Amino acid sequence: MSESRPAAIIILAAGEGTRMKSRTPKLLHTFCGRSILGHVLAAVREQRPDRLVVVVGHARDQIAAQVRDLAPEALLVTQERQGGTGHAVRSVLNQLGSMPGTVLVTNGDNPLIRSQTFSELAVGHNNAGNAVTVLTARVPRPAGYGRIHRAATGAFIGIIEEPDATPGQREIDEVNSGSYAFDGTLLADVIKRIPADNALGQEYLTDAVALLVADGYRAGTVLAGDPAEIEGVNDRVFLARARRTYNRWLLEEWMRAGVTIVDPESTWIDVTVKIGQDAEIGPETQLEGATVIGEGARIGPGCLLVDTTVGEDAVLLHAVCRQAEIGPRVTVGPFAYLRPGASIAADAHIGTYVELKKSTVGPGAKVPHLSYVGDARIGAGANIGAGVIFANYDGVAKHQTTVGEHAFVGSNTVLVAPVTIGDGAYTAAGSVIIDDVPAGDLGIARGKQHNSDGWVVRNREETRSADAAKRDRSDHEIERS
Ligand code: UD1
Ligand code: CA
Repeated sequence: MSESRPAAIIILAAGEGTRMKSRTPKLLHTFCGRSILGHVLAAVREQRPDRLVVVVGHARDQIAAQVRDLAPEALLVTQERQGGTGHAVRSVLNQLGSMPGTVLVTNGDNPLIRSQTFSELAVGHNNAGNAVTVLTARVPRPAGYGRIHRAATGAFIGIIEEPDATPGQREIDEVNSGSYAFDGTLLADVIKRIPADNALGQEYLTDAVALLVADGYRAGTVLAGDPAEIEGVNDRVFLARARRTYNRWLLEEWMRAGVTIVDPESTWIDVTVKIGQDAEIGPETQLEGATVIGEGARIGPGCLLVDTTVGEDAVLLHAVCRQAEIGPRVTVGPFAYLRPGASIAADAHIGTYVELKKSTVGPGAKVPHLSYVGDARIGAGANIGAGVIFANYDGVAKHQTTVGEHAFVGSNTVLVAPVTIGDGAYTAAGSVIIDDVPAGDLGIARGKQHNSDGWVVRNREETRSADAAKRDRSDHEIERS
C-alpha cells in the first residue's frame, strides 16, 4: 500500500548492551544466520522507506561497517552520548531536519519483529490518523518493559517506564514493544520537549506519547499478533530464546513448503538456507550460510553443513561439510568431513571416516572407507580402496594428484603427489606410489613377500600359535597322504 510506505524508518542502535558481557557489541551477536541488527535491517528494508536511518554510538565503527554492508542505502547518524531513546531520535532530527510523512522508530535490539508487523503498524497508524501509534503486546511477564497507560475510557494516554511505575501499574500486562509510528512533523516538534528529569537523567522517547496526548493529538496502539515478536535481546538468555523462537518460525515455514523436519527441537536452519521440496532433515542437524539442499535429499541425523550445495536425492549421514558441492544422488557418510573445495559429482559415494579437501570426485566414483583425499582429481567410476591416503603435502608445498576414470586404487595405497594414475590403471594394495602409473597398468610398489618356513614352530615352541601351526600342518599332511 503506497500511502503507508514510510517517509523514514529510524533504528536505534547506539546503546551499549552491557548485559551481554561480551567483547562483541550486542547488536552484532548472531542467531539463525544474521546478527541482531541484521534481522532488524532485513525486516525494515522490506518497508522500502524513503530514508532508512541508523543511530550509532557505542561500538560505532563496527556497527556502521555492518550497516554499510547490509544496507548501503542507510544513513548513519552518530549519537555522541547515550542520552536515551528520545535523545537518539532528537540527534537524528537535528542532523536531518523534520521528515514529513510517517516516521517509524524501532529499537535495534528487537530482532523478531516481522516485516508484516511493521506494515500493520504503519497501516493502522495511517488509517486511524494518529499522531503516534505504538506497537504493543500482551505478555505473561511484563517486567522490564514500559507499560501501556490507558484512561478509564480505555484511551491510550502514555507509556510508563518500569522504574517510574507504581506497584499497581506494574500489573499492567500490555507493554511497549519499542516500535512506533509517528507523524513526522509532530515528532520533530515534540522531540525537543522531552524532559530528562527521571532517575537516570535520560530522554525517553516513550514520553512523546503523553506530550502529544496533552497537546490534544490522537495516540493509538497496534497489538502484535504473536507476543514472541516483541521480545528484545538484553542478555544471552534472551539471545537463546530469540534463536529458538526464530528457528521455530523458519522450520514451520519449511514444513509448510513441503520439507520434512524430523525433530524441530534439534534442527537449526539459518534464514539464508534454501531447501527443495520433499527433502528430509534428520535430528541434530544444522544448516548454515548459503547452503542449498536439493529436492528429495536426506540430510542427517547429525549433519553440519556450511555454505554447501546438495543435489537432488543425495543422502548425507553424520557429515560435516563446509563450502562443498555434492551432486545428485551422492551418498556421504556416516562420519565424513568435506572441506572447502570438495566437489562430488552425481552418483558418487563418500563413505565412513573419509576427509576431502579441494578435490573433485567424478560421477559414480567411490571413496568408501578411511581415506584422506587432498588436492585431487578422481575420475568417473574410479574406486579408491580402504585406507588410501593422498599425500598432498611435502612439508613445504601442496601438490596435485590425478586418478583416471575407472581406475582402481588398492587398499592402503599412499599416492605421493604430484602423481597421476591413468585411466583404468590399478595400484596394488599397500603400495607407496611415487611415479605415474600409465593407463591400464598395475602399479606395485611394496616389498616382495618372503615366508620363513616353519619359523613359529622352531622359534615359539609350546605357544598356542605353535600348537595351532602343528595341527594345521599335520591336517595338511593327512590330506596330502
Ligand atoms: C525500551 C523502552 C521500553 C520498551 C522496551 C522494549 C524507552 C525509554 N523504553 O526500553 O518502553 O518496553 O524498549 O524493548 O525507550 N539506544 C540508543 N541510544 C540511547 C539509548 C538507547 O540508540 O541513548 C538504543 C539501544 O541501543 C537499543 C534501543 O535504543 O537498541 C532501546 O534501548 P534500551 O536501553 O534497550 O531500552 P529498554 O530498556 O529496552
Ligand atoms: Ca532493550
